[in-house]
Amino acid sequence: MHVVIVKHPDDAADYSAKIFVRQILRDPRSVLGLATGTSPVSLYQELIAAYKAGEISFRDVTTFNLDEYLGLPCMHPQSYQYFMAETLFNHIDINKERTFIPSSNLENTRASCIEYENNITQRGGIDLQLLGIGRNGHIGFNEPSSGLSSRTRVKTLTAETIQDNARFFSTDESQPELAITMGIGTILESKQIVLLATGQAKAQAVVSAIEGPLSVFCPASALQTHVNTVCVLDEAAASLLQHLAFYERIDTDSGNLMFE
Ligand code: F6R
Repeated sequence: MHVVIVKHPDDAADYSAKIFVRQILRDPRSVLGLATGTSPVSLYQELIAAYKAGEISFRDVTTFNLDEYLGLPCMHPQSYQYFMAETLFNHIDINKERTFIPSSNLENTRASCIEYENNITQRGGIDLQLLGIGRNGHIGFNEPSSGLSSRTRVKTLTAETIQDNARFFSTDESQPELAITMGIGTILESKQIVLLATGQAKAQAVVSAIEGPLSVFCPASALQTHVNTVCVLDEAAASLLQHLAFYERIDTDSGNLMFE
């Protein structure tokens, strides 16, 4: 794993956005894996700005989102379908027929999970996958105890995740406890992965993912086995790492080779 530590959350968004811009410039037909939540919002704003400045076009890009709540109608404001439309897709020139999000439909979930996997494969696999990280180390909705080779499937959300995401739901709304998520095995097949984590609340999950043992109890630790993952952290999220100086030295030595 390549660990990049920047000062502020905005710098982390900026660094990650550059990786996405570079990918789209290198291959305008890129297949991107996208995430929801708070972490990617500034990054998406930077991508929108790059599109509006004429730097990039999403016309031929395909996207696959990591996850979706099960049972929420797609136009529900807390559905990830709605989030993606509002936060990114409505502001860029992407063909919405090439934006894929796991189905929230409670029926035929098994078939829709298989279809999602097949769709990713048929489109040549994911070139660049964006990840946030849960306080419990989840990636997508692969909660602790998720199989490290798991595929797209239904997962029960932990009490911690339900509580973390309660901030998005009003008190009179019932919050889903099930989700469909790409599996860890699905995520690990992406050619490149960017994990974006900011804020002190993520520091423990970050240290477990990067320096802890490979364990189903920190699903993000599976990224240790991936050949091309960059963890982009602000100082707060990186604050518990034991080998900070070493990561900074590697980053300086590599001289941001990624952007050559
Ligand atoms: C969202 C997702 C989740 C989030 C994670 C962090 O699609 O898959 O794994 O990335 O829960 O959420 P935030 O960014 O809201 O802290």
